[in-house]
Amino acid sequence: MRLIIDTGKGGVGKTSVSVATAKRCADMGYRTIIMSTDAAHSVADSMDIELNGQITNILPNLDALEIDIVNEMKIRWNDIQEYISEFMESQGITGLSAEEMAILPGMELIAALMYVIDFDRHDRYDVVVMDTAPTAETLRLMSFPDVTSWYADKLFRLAKKLLGLARFTVGRFMDVPLPSANVLTSIEKMKDLMGEAKTILEDPKKTTVRLVVNPEKMVISETKRAYSYLSLYNKNVECLIVNRVYPEGIEGDFFKSKYEEQAKYMAYIHEVFDPMKMLYAYQRPSELVGWEMLDKLADDLYGDTDPAAVYSDRSPLRFVTEGGEHRIELNLPFKHKGDIQLFKAKDDSVIVLVGSQKCNIALPDTLKKAKMKGAEMKDEKLIIRFEKEETE
Ligand SMILES: Nc1ncnc2c1ncn2[C@@H]1O[C@H](COP(=O)(O)OP(=O)(O)OP(=O)(O)O)[C@@H](O)[C@H]1O
Ligand SMILES: [Mg+2]
Repeated sequence: MRLIIDTGKGGVGKTSVSVATAKRCADMGYRTIIMSTDAAHSVADSMDIELNGQITNILPNLDALEIDIVNEMKIRWNDIQEYISEFMESQGITGLSAEEMAILPGMELIAALMYVIDFDRHDRYDVVVMDTAPTAETLRLMSFPDVTSWYADKLFRLAKKLLGLARFTVGRFMDVPLPSANVLTSIEKMKDLMGEAKTILEDPKKTTVRLVVNPEKMVISETKRAYSYLSLYNKNVECLIVNRVYPEGIEGDFFKSKYEEQAKYMAYIHEVFDPMKMLYAYQRPSELVGWEMLDKLADDLYGDTDPAAVYSDRSPLRFVTEGGEHRIELNLPFKHKGDIQLFKAKDDSVIVLVGSQKCNIALPDTLKKAKMKGAEMKDEKLIIRFEKEETE
């Protein structure tokens, strides 16, 4: 399965690019689904059809789904209930309805990730194209398995500690309701599922993030930030999709001046993002609605090439061992030494803080006992070195 996630600033053309890409994949014979996780869905509008929160077949090889979170809570009630409501109940919150569950933060992300896990497990599609909400929300999606696993881990330890304590105090001094053994199981299950989601999202041969950009100043700035943060979360950003490009030789004074203005920003895009692969789509005279327009967009972007191809399969994060020295290398585009803080956490992970974003790098066994020796930034790459292993 290939999971293609198109992200970018509001209005840059994410939905149009996603739908055009999915249609082209289906035309090439891939079993494809276009799935929208943006609460303000517009996949159906773009295709000029109706969707109802269910997987719907719309063309040969092409299914579509706009996730309806209230409906998800109802059909997946049993699953979700196992994960969350048991814990809620253990904390004295009972009888949550599907509608109430739907407004808990992160629910739509859990639903989207569950679909992805399900498609992957059962090999239902060759290509899953995800149309997402603007950047901030997608960053939340991408970091979600990490954050959830972290909390689940803490909860699991806390619950176990409470159970251990209870044996001694026999409940006399306890005003926190005791977690049942089921709660432990649910938290563990949640952890496993999020682990599975993380494995899919961080496998560069499966998951790819494509950044949609327009040749405009603010859009480029946000795209740079997104690229840094996605790398921090170890997500493979393999190409840049430059949409709404004015063609050379365009007639009319207005368009000519637009073209000249864009030329400046196109040069800047190259300066910043080269040698990343770039795909281009022209500014069209009207809105992109319906298959004919979307096919043209796909022609601009892919020509005769395969949109599901793996353009780059290098993860931003690598564990390297060389000459007995272990190190972690993490690409952090556009970042400097002063932007980054590092901590070794008690739970054998390294925490990297960049601005308001943080990632938790779980250390492999070989590094758990090793002492962090130092860190440096070199060519936009963070290198964390560990003490050389003692040879016996
Ligand atoms: N290359 C293009 N030429 C002309 N119009 C375009 C082009 N790309 C996108 N549009 C139009 O721009 C508008 C926004 O596009 P789209 O909905 O795909 O963006 P989006 O990034 O998904 O927006 P949102 O952040 O609101 O989800 C739509 O009306 C679309 O038809
Ligand atoms: Mg959209």
